[in-house]
Amino acid sequence: MSVSKYIEYSYEMYITEIIEYVNTQCKNIAFDAILLKAGIEYIKAHYGNITFKQHGGSCICFCVGEDFCVKLCKRNNDTLKRFNHYLAISIANDLTVPTKIVYMDDNCIVYEQLLVEEITKITPDIVKQILKSFHKYMSLGFKPSDISYRNYGLMGEKVYMFDLHDFVEIDYDNTLNVKNIFRIFDMLFNQERASKLSDENRYEHYVQGHSLIGKKYKKYITKLQENNLADINEYVLEIYEDLDKGFKSFHYDYQLIRVLEYESNKIELLGHTEDKYLLAKKIIQDNPGQISTVLDAGCSLGGIGCKIAQRNPHMFVTLNNITESELAFAEGLAQKTGCKNTSLDNTNLINVNDKYDLTLYFAILHHMFRQSSPVDVIEMIKRQTNKYSVIEIPLKGDTLLNLLMNHEDHWNSNFYMLEDAHTFTDFLQANGLSVIEHNQIVYPNSSDLNRHYFIVRIAQ
Ligand SMILES: C[S@@+](CC[C@H](N)C(=O)[O-])C[C@H]1O[C@@H](n2cnc3c(N)ncnc32)[C@H](O)[C@@H]1O
Repeated sequence: MSVSKYIEYSYEMYITEIIEYVNTQCKNIAFDAILLKAGIEYIKAHYGNITFKQHGGSCICFCVGEDFCVKLCKRNNDTLKRFNHYLAISIANDLTVPTKIVYMDDNCIVYEQLLVEEITKITPDIVKQILKSFHKYMSLGFKPSDISYRNYGLMGEKVYMFDLHDFVEIDYDNTLNVKNIFRIFDMLFNQERASKLSDENRYEHYVQGHSLIGKKYKKYITKLQENNLADINEYVLEIYEDLDKGFKSFHYDYQLIRVLEYESNKIELLGHTEDKYLLAKKIIQDNPGQISTVLDAGCSLGGIGCKIAQRNPHMFVTLNNITESELAFAEGLAQKTGCKNTSLDNTNLINVNDKYDLTLYFAILHHMFRQSSPVDVIEMIKRQTNKYSVIEIPLKGDTLLNLLMNHEDHWNSNFYMLEDAHTFTDFLQANGLSVIEHNQIVYPNSSDLNRHYFIVRIAQ
């Protein structure tokens, strides 16, 4: 039965029915209407029209008009027995909404709280305020038992924590803290994607290395996991500094891109996307004046190509991608970040006939081996490259490569040269591409990926 249906009940029924509904949601008798009777009576006697807002593990919240709510809380654990003590700590800290206790007995507490606006979009500023609140309470020897962003709300620009009844003294089982802090960072970095998976799955993905968040943020989470309180306090300062920059974050499967809006829309890349950019950067730096045109082949969101274009305004970068939606994103990114020295190309890479001083084939060639022979792909590289090329390729053992090939342990004729780095180097050299550098690309925590890059020089 939907909650709005309760409105049809008499006022007397309302609170009791809601309690029943909440108990069904919690799958046990979380709230005992008999023990809470005096609190219920108090609410009925003192407030006019109330509507059910939400419930937590120990309280049920009703809106009274538009500006404030009244909370019916059970008081059967230590935390709530010491409520006044926690309340004093909370009120002394500016992040908690001032609260008035209107009724209290041994079993229940009823208090009023200002209503705050729900946080639906996580921004760097909101993350900073939540972290500050978390650290403040930690330094007092308390932690809110659940620091989820859902327990915070907004009044104007300011974040307030409203779940003060859930305070507990610091313990050393901080799994919940870690997960909740991760979730906040995840929302910040992966806004769109983060909402699609359950909290538990997102965290699992993170632990397996599939979810990208900034390096400093990872370090901070590791310290939280280790329960290293002294270090946590130090690391959080680095994060505040980063959050102060203000940024927009985009993440789509492969690339993690941040645009620092308050620093002339400077592009920052993270994780393996940054590592790949650094390979291109090194070639550009080592060959001053030699590289004027760049092809970012299968550019995904265009993060690598746009960053090259932004840092090298005299160069011209072509963003190629057969996937229109990704290319549309890359176009928006180039516009937002002022990269006028870019152009878009939606042709199938195999049909691109222009030549570039530097070509970047990051994580794309293995897709092409499905349709084109290895020799055709090599011919394509030679046709498109004037001076240097960076090729990133999965080698045998790479889980995604296996999926792509669709046979677990079987090498077909288009993939044989991906046996190992040595075989692939020989294959390139035999076909006239001299390998000047090779190494592995590390995808943090993804031990199932076996990715390597090869820097190739085209003989003039
Ligand atoms: C695994 S992603 C790699 C993205 C990017 N190069 C990176 O490493 O961050 C592969 C990209 O290649 C694009 N792609 C696949 N086949 C292509 C083709 N034949 N021509 C152009 N783009 C292609 C996909 O749309 C996707 O953006």
